[in-house]
Amino acid sequence: MKTINKDNTWSISSFLENKKYDFSKDNILDILPAKDMDEAFKIISKWDNYSPTPLIYLNKLNKKLKFNKIFYKDESKRFNLKSFKALGGAYAVEKVTKGNKDIIISTATAGNHGRSVAWGSKKLGLKCKIFISEYVSEFRAKVMRSFGANVIRVKGNYDNSLKECIKQSKQNNWQIVQDVAWEDYKLVPKLTMAGYSVMMKEISEQINNEKISHIILQAGVGGMAAAMIAGIARYLDNVPTIIVVEPENAACVLESIKADKVEKISIKKESLMGGMSCDEVSLVPWEILKNSVSHCVTVSDNYISKTVKSLANCEFSDKGIVGGECSTPGIISLIGMSNDSKIKKKINLNESSNILLFGCEGDADEELYQKLLTE
Ligand SMILES: Cc1ncc(COP(=O)(O)O)c(C=O)c1O
Repeated sequence: MKTINKDNTWSISSFLENKKYDFSKDNILDILPAKDMDEAFKIISKWDNYSPTPLIYLNKLNKKLKFNKIFYKDESKRFNLKSFKALGGAYAVEKVTKGNKDIIISTATAGNHGRSVAWGSKKLGLKCKIFISEYVSEFRAKVMRSFGANVIRVKGNYDNSLKECIKQSKQNNWQIVQDVAWEDYKLVPKLTMAGYSVMMKEISEQINNEKISHIILQAGVGGMAAAMIAGIARYLDNVPTIIVVEPENAACVLESIKADKVEKISIKKESLMGGMSCDEVSLVPWEILKNSVSHCVTVSDNYISKTVKSLANCEFSDKGIVGGECSTPGIISLIGMSNDSKIKKKINLNESSNILLFGCEGDADEELYQKLLTE
Protein backbone atom coordinates (compact mmCIF):
# COMPACT_ATOMS: atom_id res chain seq x y z
CA MET A 1 0.00 0.00 0.00
CA LYS A 2 2.89 2.37 0.61
CA THR A 3 3.40 2.35 -3.10
CA ILE A 4 -0.07 3.38 -4.18
CA ASN A 5 0.73 7.02 -4.91
CA LYS A 6 4.15 6.40 -6.27
CA ASP A 7 3.59 3.13 -8.04
CA ASN A 8 3.07 4.10 -11.65
CA THR A 9 1.66 0.70 -12.42
CA TRP A 10 -1.72 1.85 -11.04
CA SER A 11 -3.09 3.68 -14.00
CA ILE A 12 -6.18 4.07 -16.11
CA SER A 13 -6.12 3.03 -19.75
CA SER A 14 -8.09 5.93 -21.19
CA PHE A 15 -9.89 9.08 -20.16
CA LEU A 16 -12.53 11.02 -22.05
CA GLU A 17 -14.34 14.23 -21.30
CA ASN A 18 -17.98 14.32 -22.44
CA LYS A 19 -18.35 17.33 -24.72
CA LYS A 20 -22.12 16.94 -24.57
CA TYR A 21 -22.33 17.07 -20.78
CA ASP A 22 -25.51 18.88 -19.78
CA PHE A 23 -27.03 17.42 -16.62
CA SER A 24 -30.78 17.96 -16.60
CA LYS A 25 -32.71 16.66 -13.63
CA ASP A 26 -36.00 17.09 -15.52
CA ASN A 27 -34.85 15.11 -18.56
CA ILE A 28 -33.51 12.32 -16.37
CA LEU A 29 -36.70 12.08 -14.34
CA ASP A 30 -38.75 12.04 -17.55
CA ILE A 31 -36.92 8.86 -18.50
CA LEU A 32 -36.95 7.20 -15.06
CA PRO A 33 -39.71 8.99 -13.13
CA ALA A 34 -39.47 9.62 -9.39
CA LYS A 35 -42.71 7.74 -8.82
CA ASP A 36 -41.22 4.56 -10.40
CA MET A 37 -38.21 4.77 -8.08
CA ASP A 38 -40.44 5.47 -5.07
CA GLU A 39 -42.60 2.46 -5.90
CA ALA A 40 -39.54 0.22 -6.26
CA PHE A 41 -38.32 1.28 -2.83
CA LYS A 42 -41.75 0.79 -1.29
CA ILE A 43 -42.01 -2.76 -2.63
CA ILE A 44 -38.40 -3.92 -2.22
CA SER A 45 -38.07 -2.56 1.32
CA LYS A 46 -40.93 -4.87 2.29
CA TRP A 47 -39.25 -8.02 0.97
CA ASP A 48 -38.18 -10.56 3.61
CA ASN A 49 -34.72 -9.90 5.00
CA TYR A 50 -34.45 -6.46 3.39
CA SER A 51 -31.93 -4.16 4.97
CA PRO A 52 -29.78 -1.42 3.44
CA THR A 53 -26.32 -2.63 2.44
CA PRO A 54 -23.41 -1.00 4.31
CA LEU A 55 -21.82 2.26 3.22
CA ILE A 56 -18.21 1.81 4.30
CA TYR A 57 -15.46 4.42 4.68
CA LEU A 58 -12.30 3.41 2.85
CA ASN A 59 -10.37 5.35 5.47
CA LYS A 60 -7.02 3.66 4.87
CA LEU A 61 -7.16 4.20 1.13
CA ASN A 62 -8.19 7.80 1.78
CA LYS A 63 -5.18 8.34 4.00
CA LYS A 64 -2.97 7.45 1.07
CA LEU A 65 -4.87 9.42 -1.56
CA LYS A 66 -5.61 12.43 0.68
CA PHE A 67 -9.19 13.23 -0.16
CA ASN A 68 -11.84 14.10 2.41
CA LYS A 69 -13.73 10.79 2.36
CA ILE A 70 -14.13 7.73 0.18
CA PHE A 71 -17.45 5.92 0.54
CA TYR A 72 -17.91 2.35 -0.69
CA LYS A 73 -21.40 0.89 -1.11
CA ASP A 74 -20.97 -2.78 -0.29
CA GLU A 75 -23.39 -4.78 -2.41
CA SER A 76 -21.82 -8.10 -1.43
CA LYS A 77 -24.39 -8.05 1.36
CA ARG A 78 -27.49 -7.69 -0.85
CA PHE A 79 -30.10 -10.35 0.11
CA ASN A 80 -27.52 -13.14 0.16
CA LEU A 81 -27.38 -12.81 -3.62
CA LYS A 82 -24.06 -11.02 -3.41
CA SER A 83 -24.68 -8.24 -5.93
CA PHE A 84 -26.83 -5.18 -6.58
CA LYS A 85 -28.49 -7.12 -9.40
CA ALA A 86 -30.71 -8.69 -6.71
CA LEU A 87 -32.66 -5.42 -6.75
CA GLY A 88 -33.42 -5.36 -10.48
CA GLY A 89 -34.39 -8.67 -12.05
CA ALA A 90 -36.41 -9.97 -9.10
CA TYR A 91 -38.33 -6.70 -8.87
CA ALA A 92 -39.10 -6.74 -12.61
CA VAL A 93 -40.36 -10.35 -12.33
CA GLU A 94 -42.74 -9.31 -9.57
CA LYS A 95 -44.00 -6.26 -11.49
CA VAL A 96 -44.56 -7.91 -14.86
CA THR A 97 -46.25 -11.06 -13.59
CA LYS A 98 -48.66 -9.21 -11.26
CA GLY A 99 -49.51 -12.34 -9.29
CA ASN A 100 -50.11 -14.55 -12.36
CA LYS A 101 -48.57 -17.94 -11.54
CA ASP A 102 -48.84 -19.38 -15.07
CA ILE A 103 -46.24 -17.15 -16.68
CA ILE A 104 -42.89 -18.72 -17.53
CA ILE A 105 -39.99 -16.29 -17.12
CA SER A 106 -36.90 -16.22 -19.33
CA THR A 107 -33.71 -14.20 -19.49
CA ALA A 108 -30.13 -14.12 -20.79
CA THR A 109 -27.38 -13.26 -18.34
CA ALA A 110 -23.71 -12.92 -17.49
CA GLY A 111 -24.64 -14.32 -14.09
CA ASN A 112 -25.89 -11.90 -11.48
CA HIS A 113 -28.98 -10.69 -13.33
CA GLY A 114 -30.01 -14.31 -13.93
CA ARG A 115 -29.48 -15.11 -10.28
CA SER A 116 -31.85 -12.29 -9.37
CA VAL A 117 -34.46 -13.38 -11.93
CA ALA A 118 -34.23 -17.00 -10.76
CA TRP A 119 -34.52 -15.95 -7.11
CA GLY A 120 -37.48 -13.65 -7.86
CA SER A 121 -39.21 -16.39 -9.87
CA LYS A 122 -38.70 -18.92 -7.09
CA LYS A 123 -40.13 -16.53 -4.50
CA LEU A 124 -43.28 -16.25 -6.62
CA GLY A 125 -43.47 -19.93 -7.58
CA LEU A 126 -42.77 -19.28 -11.28
CA LYS A 127 -40.87 -21.45 -13.76
CA CYS A 128 -37.75 -19.81 -15.13
CA LYS A 129 -35.45 -20.40 -18.15
CA ILE A 130 -32.01 -18.85 -18.12
CA PHE A 131 -29.70 -18.57 -21.14
CA ILE A 132 -25.96 -18.24 -20.57
CA SER A 133 -23.00 -17.96 -22.92
CA GLU A 134 -19.93 -20.16 -22.92
CA TYR A 135 -18.13 -17.53 -20.82
CA VAL A 136 -20.41 -17.81 -17.78
CA SER A 137 -18.80 -20.03 -15.16
CA GLU A 138 -20.36 -23.33 -14.18
CA PHE A 139 -20.34 -22.05 -10.60
CA ARG A 140 -22.72 -19.25 -11.55
CA ALA A 141 -24.91 -21.70 -13.49
CA LYS A 142 -25.09 -23.95 -10.42
CA VAL A 143 -26.29 -21.11 -8.22
CA MET A 144 -29.09 -20.30 -10.69
CA ARG A 145 -30.10 -23.96 -10.78
CA SER A 146 -30.19 -23.94 -6.99
CA PHE A 147 -33.07 -21.44 -7.32
CA GLY A 148 -34.94 -23.91 -9.51
CA ALA A 149 -34.08 -22.30 -12.87
CA ASN A 150 -33.59 -24.31 -16.02
CA VAL A 151 -30.18 -23.08 -17.24
CA ILE A 152 -29.48 -23.35 -20.97
CA ARG A 153 -25.93 -22.88 -22.21
CA VAL A 154 -25.48 -21.31 -25.63
CA LYS A 155 -22.35 -21.40 -27.79
CA GLY A 156 -20.67 -18.01 -28.26
CA ASN A 157 -20.93 -14.80 -26.28
CA TYR A 158 -23.63 -12.93 -24.36
CA ASP A 159 -25.23 -11.66 -27.59
CA ASN A 160 -25.73 -15.23 -28.77
CA SER A 161 -27.34 -16.18 -25.48
CA LEU A 162 -29.71 -13.21 -25.74
CA LYS A 163 -30.64 -14.04 -29.35
CA GLU A 164 -31.40 -17.64 -28.39
CA CYS A 165 -33.41 -16.45 -25.39
CA ILE A 166 -35.52 -14.16 -27.60
CA LYS A 167 -36.02 -16.89 -30.22
CA GLN A 168 -37.12 -19.59 -27.79
CA SER A 169 -39.22 -17.16 -25.75
CA LYS A 170 -41.16 -16.14 -28.88
CA GLN A 171 -41.71 -19.78 -29.86
CA ASN A 172 -42.89 -20.78 -26.39
CA ASN A 173 -44.59 -17.62 -25.24
CA TRP A 174 -42.26 -17.07 -22.30
CA GLN A 175 -42.03 -13.64 -20.65
CA ILE A 176 -38.55 -12.20 -21.12
CA VAL A 177 -37.23 -10.27 -18.11
CA GLN A 178 -34.15 -8.61 -19.54
CA ASP A 179 -31.98 -5.85 -18.10
CA VAL A 180 -31.10 -4.62 -21.60
CA ALA A 181 -33.44 -2.42 -23.63
CA TRP A 182 -33.96 -2.40 -27.39
CA GLU A 183 -36.59 -0.81 -29.67
CA ASP A 184 -40.00 -2.08 -28.47
CA TYR A 185 -38.54 -3.48 -25.25
CA LYS A 186 -38.09 -0.72 -22.72
CA LEU A 187 -40.55 -1.27 -19.91
CA VAL A 188 -38.81 -4.20 -18.19
CA PRO A 189 -35.30 -2.68 -18.33
CA LYS A 190 -36.80 0.46 -16.77
CA LEU A 191 -38.20 -1.66 -13.97
CA THR A 192 -34.78 -3.20 -13.31
CA MET A 193 -33.30 0.31 -13.17
CA ALA A 194 -36.02 1.45 -10.77
CA GLY A 195 -35.02 -1.52 -8.59
CA TYR A 196 -31.33 -0.55 -8.69
CA SER A 197 -32.20 3.01 -7.65
CA VAL A 198 -32.89 1.68 -4.15
CA MET A 199 -29.11 1.84 -3.67
CA MET A 200 -29.10 5.62 -4.10
CA LYS A 201 -32.08 6.06 -1.80
CA GLU A 202 -30.16 4.16 0.89
CA ILE A 203 -26.97 6.13 0.24
CA SER A 204 -28.83 9.45 0.52
CA GLU A 205 -29.84 8.40 4.04
CA GLN A 206 -26.42 6.97 4.95
CA ILE A 207 -24.22 9.97 4.09
CA ASN A 208 -25.50 12.09 7.00
CA ASN A 209 -25.79 15.38 5.14
CA GLU A 210 -22.32 15.06 3.62
CA LYS A 211 -22.14 16.07 -0.03
CA ILE A 212 -20.73 13.62 -2.53
CA SER A 213 -18.45 15.48 -4.93
CA HIS A 214 -17.48 12.60 -7.25
CA ILE A 215 -19.16 9.35 -8.09
CA ILE A 216 -17.57 6.56 -10.10
CA LEU A 217 -20.03 4.20 -11.74
CA GLN A 218 -19.22 0.87 -13.32
CA ALA A 219 -20.95 0.18 -16.62
CA GLY A 220 -21.73 -2.92 -18.59
CA VAL A 221 -24.77 -2.00 -20.68
CA GLY A 222 -25.18 1.09 -18.50
CA GLY A 223 -28.31 0.19 -16.54
CA MET A 224 -26.74 0.46 -13.11
CA ALA A 225 -24.92 3.72 -13.94
CA ALA A 226 -28.06 5.32 -15.39
CA ALA A 227 -30.16 4.18 -12.45
CA MET A 228 -27.69 5.76 -10.03
CA ILE A 229 -27.84 9.00 -12.01
CA ALA A 230 -31.63 8.92 -11.80
CA GLY A 231 -31.19 8.30 -8.08
CA ILE A 232 -28.93 11.37 -7.85
CA ALA A 233 -31.64 13.44 -9.56
CA ARG A 234 -34.27 12.05 -7.21
CA TYR A 235 -32.50 11.84 -3.85
CA LEU A 236 -29.44 14.11 -3.69
CA ASP A 237 -29.35 17.88 -3.22
CA ASN A 238 -26.26 18.35 -5.37
CA VAL A 239 -24.94 16.95 -8.63
CA PRO A 240 -21.56 15.23 -8.20
CA THR A 241 -19.03 14.85 -11.00
CA ILE A 242 -20.17 11.62 -12.61
CA ILE A 243 -17.51 9.30 -14.02
CA VAL A 244 -18.23 6.01 -15.78
CA VAL A 245 -15.64 3.25 -15.64
CA GLU A 246 -15.48 0.29 -18.03
CA PRO A 247 -13.07 -2.51 -18.91
CA GLU A 248 -10.63 -1.33 -21.59
CA ASN A 249 -11.82 -4.18 -23.81
CA ALA A 250 -15.49 -3.32 -23.48
CA ALA A 251 -15.78 0.45 -23.46
CA CYS A 252 -19.16 0.74 -25.17
CA VAL A 253 -20.27 3.76 -23.13
CA LEU A 254 -17.01 5.63 -23.71
CA GLU A 255 -17.12 4.91 -27.45
CA SER A 256 -20.76 6.00 -27.67
CA ILE A 257 -20.08 9.23 -25.80
CA LYS A 258 -17.13 9.87 -28.10
CA ALA A 259 -19.30 9.28 -31.19
CA ASP A 260 -22.38 11.01 -29.72
CA LYS A 261 -24.49 8.00 -30.71
CA VAL A 262 -24.82 4.38 -29.67
CA GLU A 263 -21.74 2.59 -30.98
CA LYS A 264 -21.57 -1.18 -31.02
CA ILE A 265 -17.99 -2.19 -30.35
CA SER A 266 -16.24 -5.44 -31.06
CA ILE A 267 -14.86 -7.15 -27.97
CA LYS A 268 -11.43 -8.56 -28.82
CA LYS A 269 -10.96 -10.27 -25.47
CA GLU A 270 -13.57 -10.82 -22.77
CA SER A 271 -12.70 -8.99 -19.55
CA LEU A 272 -12.41 -10.85 -16.26
CA MET A 273 -15.10 -8.39 -15.16
CA GLY A 274 -17.70 -10.58 -16.84
CA GLY A 275 -20.75 -8.54 -15.83
CA MET A 276 -19.21 -5.49 -17.49
CA SER A 277 -17.98 -7.14 -20.67
CA CYS A 278 -20.70 -5.66 -22.91
CA ASP A 279 -20.47 -4.44 -26.48
CA GLU A 280 -23.41 -2.04 -26.70
CA VAL A 281 -24.99 0.43 -24.31
CA SER A 282 -28.66 -0.24 -23.66
CA LEU A 283 -31.13 2.28 -25.13
CA VAL A 284 -32.88 3.54 -21.99
CA PRO A 285 -29.63 4.05 -20.04
CA TRP A 286 -28.10 5.77 -23.07
CA GLU A 287 -30.78 8.46 -22.98
CA ILE A 288 -29.67 9.26 -19.42
CA LEU A 289 -25.92 8.70 -19.74
CA LYS A 290 -25.29 10.70 -22.91
CA ASN A 291 -25.65 14.11 -21.22
CA SER A 292 -25.16 13.28 -17.53
CA VAL A 293 -21.80 11.56 -17.49
CA SER A 294 -19.02 14.08 -17.29
CA HIS A 295 -16.09 11.74 -17.92
CA CYS A 296 -15.42 8.15 -18.99
CA VAL A 297 -12.42 6.07 -18.00
CA THR A 298 -11.31 2.54 -18.76
CA VAL A 299 -9.16 0.13 -16.79
CA SER A 300 -7.32 -3.06 -17.63
CA ASP A 301 -7.75 -6.40 -15.90
CA ASN A 302 -4.20 -6.14 -14.49
CA TYR A 303 -5.14 -4.65 -11.12
CA ILE A 304 -8.20 -6.76 -10.34
CA SER A 305 -6.48 -9.41 -8.25
CA LYS A 306 -4.39 -6.83 -6.39
CA THR A 307 -7.53 -4.85 -5.53
CA VAL A 308 -9.56 -7.89 -4.48
CA LYS A 309 -6.74 -8.83 -2.10
CA SER A 310 -6.35 -5.31 -0.71
CA LEU A 311 -10.09 -5.14 -0.02
CA ALA A 312 -10.03 -8.49 1.76
CA ASN A 313 -6.85 -7.78 3.73
CA CYS A 314 -8.06 -4.53 5.36
CA GLU A 315 -5.65 -2.41 3.33
CA PHE A 316 -8.36 0.04 2.28
CA SER A 317 -10.61 0.02 5.36
CA ASP A 318 -10.59 -1.12 8.98
CA LYS A 319 -12.59 -4.24 8.23
CA GLY A 320 -11.99 -6.65 5.38
CA ILE A 321 -14.40 -6.38 2.44
CA VAL A 322 -15.44 -9.18 0.11
CA GLY A 323 -15.32 -7.51 -3.30
CA GLY A 324 -15.47 -9.53 -6.49
CA GLU A 325 -14.06 -8.63 -9.89
CA CYS A 326 -16.69 -6.01 -10.75
CA SER A 327 -16.17 -4.29 -7.41
CA THR A 328 -12.63 -3.32 -8.30
CA PRO A 329 -12.78 -0.82 -11.20
CA GLY A 330 -14.04 2.09 -9.07
CA ILE A 331 -11.01 1.78 -6.81
CA ILE A 332 -8.61 1.07 -9.66
CA SER A 333 -9.76 4.10 -11.62
CA LEU A 334 -9.70 6.35 -8.56
CA ILE A 335 -6.10 5.42 -7.79
CA GLY A 336 -5.23 5.63 -11.48
CA MET A 337 -6.70 9.14 -11.79
CA SER A 338 -4.99 10.20 -8.55
CA ASN A 339 -1.68 9.19 -10.07
CA ASP A 340 -2.23 11.58 -12.96
CA SER A 341 -1.89 15.17 -11.80
CA LYS A 342 -3.46 16.63 -14.96
CA ILE A 343 -6.58 14.49 -14.67
CA LYS A 344 -6.77 15.10 -10.95
CA LYS A 345 -6.77 18.83 -11.54
CA LYS A 346 -9.16 18.65 -14.45
CA ILE A 347 -11.85 16.90 -12.44
CA ASN A 348 -11.13 18.76 -9.19
CA LEU A 349 -10.10 15.75 -7.16
CA ASN A 350 -8.59 17.25 -4.03
CA GLU A 351 -8.50 17.22 -0.24
CA SER A 352 -12.12 18.34 0.03
CA SER A 353 -13.50 15.63 -2.28
CA ASN A 354 -16.02 13.06 -1.06
CA ILE A 355 -15.94 10.17 -3.48
CA LEU A 356 -18.57 7.47 -3.81
CA LEU A 357 -17.59 4.06 -5.17
CA PHE A 358 -19.67 0.95 -5.75
CA GLY A 359 -18.71 -2.50 -4.59
CA CYS A 360 -21.16 -4.02 -7.05
CA GLU A 361 -20.61 -7.63 -6.12
CA GLY A 362 -19.05 -9.87 -3.51
CA ASP A 363 -17.81 -13.38 -4.17
CA ALA A 364 -20.73 -14.04 -6.51
CA ASP A 365 -18.45 -16.42 -8.38
CA GLU A 366 -16.73 -18.07 -5.41
CA GLU A 367 -14.26 -20.02 -7.51
CA LEU A 368 -13.06 -16.97 -9.44
CA TYR A 369 -12.93 -14.99 -6.19
CA GLN A 370 -10.67 -17.56 -4.55
CA LYS A 371 -8.44 -17.57 -7.62
CA LEU A 372 -8.16 -13.78 -7.54
CA LEU A 373 -7.35 -13.87 -3.82
CA THR A 374 -4.52 -16.32 -4.22
CA GLU A 375 -3.12 -15.23 -7.57
C1 LIG B 1 -21.73 -7.87 -11.46
C2 LIG B 1 -22.10 -6.80 -12.39
N1 LIG B 1 -22.84 -7.03 -13.44
C3 LIG B 1 -23.14 -6.03 -14.30
C4 LIG B 1 -22.69 -4.78 -14.12
C5 LIG B 1 -23.01 -3.73 -15.09
O1 LIG B 1 -24.29 -3.28 -14.95
P1 LIG B 1 -25.03 -2.76 -16.23
O2 LIG B 1 -24.98 -3.86 -17.24
O3 LIG B 1 -26.38 -2.41 -15.77
O4 LIG B 1 -24.25 -1.57 -16.70
C6 LIG B 1 -21.95 -4.52 -13.04
C7 LIG B 1 -21.49 -3.19 -12.83
O5 LIG B 1 -20.49 -3.03 -12.28
C8 LIG B 1 -21.63 -5.55 -12.15
O6 LIG B 1 -20.90 -5.34 -11.07
